[in-house]
Amino acid sequence: MGDEVKKGLLGIVVDETTISQVMPDINSLTYRGYAVQDLCEKCSFEEVAYLVLNGDLPKKKELKKFKKQLEENRNITINLREIVKHMPKRSHPMDVTRTIVSVLGLEDKETNNNSPEANMKKAIRIFAKAPTAIAAFFRARKGKNVIPPKKNLSFSENFFYMCFGKVPNKEIVKAFDVSLILYAEHSFNVSTFTARTITSSLSDIHGAITGAIASLKGPLHGGANEEVMHMMNKIKKPENALKWINKTLDKKEVVMGFGHRVYKKGDSRVPTMEKYFKKVSKVKSDKKFIKIYEIVKKVMIDRKNIHPNVDYPTGPTYHLMGFDTDFFTPIFVISRITGWSAHIMEQHAANKLIRPLSKYSGPDHRKVMLLNQR
Ligand code: CMC
Repeated sequence: MGDEVKKGLLGIVVDETTISQVMPDINSLTYRGYAVQDLCEKCSFEEVAYLVLNGDLPKKKELKKFKKQLEENRNITINLREIVKHMPKRSHPMDVTRTIVSVLGLEDKETNNNSPEANMKKAIRIFAKAPTAIAAFFRARKGKNVIPPKKNLSFSENFFYMCFGKVPNKEIVKAFDVSLILYAEHSFNVSTFTARTITSSLSDIHGAITGAIASLKGPLHGGANEEVMHMMNKIKKPENALKWINKTLDKKEVVMGFGHRVYKKGDSRVPTMEKYFKKVSKVKSDKKFIKIYEIVKKVMIDRKNIHPNVDYPTGPTYHLMGFDTDFFTPIFVISRITGWSAHIMEQHAANKLIRPLSKYSGPDHRKVMLLNQR
């Protein structure tokens, strides 16, 4: 066995998956063989969630049953609602989200049952309940009443309803749905690999998703959508954008929402999300962020040949929809629960303990001296 170090597992293929394929050469991402841009135009988020979890798009009857299952599982316990209401108001919502899934694990009767049937049921429960608890924190930390979920609303409509008490117009809901479709799955990214690693010791789905959330929080991964908004707020207005981005690049600083480990010629999800970002900007009659967006993007490509990733357009889109900046990554979570769950089930189905090696570079072998001799 060679001892060449591949820092960050760069270029290493560690397992097979049937869930999604990132194809940087033809700039495409497919879920179970379907191109995401096609899914965004022809399907609802629920259909795509079903696809990611089950392996194929649902027929009418299957979708109806799946939606009913989600609706029936949306309620959270009084216990969880009270825990959320008592979380420190200054907590980062991603830390709250992590705790929510952990508490769901404490409450679930099948936490330690890793059978495929139990895992699918638990995945659906986490997927249905986590948004309710996240929306509860969205309101509770502002001293507002918690709004319980409402039946006969789609996944996206219900999330808006629980956060704001009303459902926005169709174009806004569609843009949100599209963002969730684009965030649902992305092969062996950091958080998914974390979930699979936790699963590989035969641990449970709640633990694996809790770990995945901690991993997604980081600004080099899902946390980038929040950082993009901080950057746009720092720039303030389009007239400042050119100077800001050139100065930032002169200082050799990393610009959030740009670059990708796999795509080097652009993230295939960006054109679709950009289209819906523009639609939301139009509905909201707010062109400021789209102007800043275009200026920064052009300079990044011209000067560095580094393209935006999906977090670049989602950040300002969520802002225009009215979400607080620190809730952008929890929104990513409510979608990615589907991808993580599918990977956790795939890992269980053909498990091999994930345990890489390391090259030791510490002190040579030495004797322990007694305390009074050191
Ligand atoms: N701004 C400025 N320079 C960059 C950027 C950026 N966003 N991304 C990469 N580079 C430069 C980097 O400095 C390096 O230059 P050099 O070779 O001169 O040292 C070169 O490009 C290669 O970058 P890398 O960091 O070695 O590439 P990586 O594959 O290890 O990292 C990345 C990928 C996503 C961590 C990185 O591009 C980055 O930090 N981007 C900003 C954070 C971000 O937007 N993350 C979201 C990722 S995609 C969606 C998601 O997971 O949520």
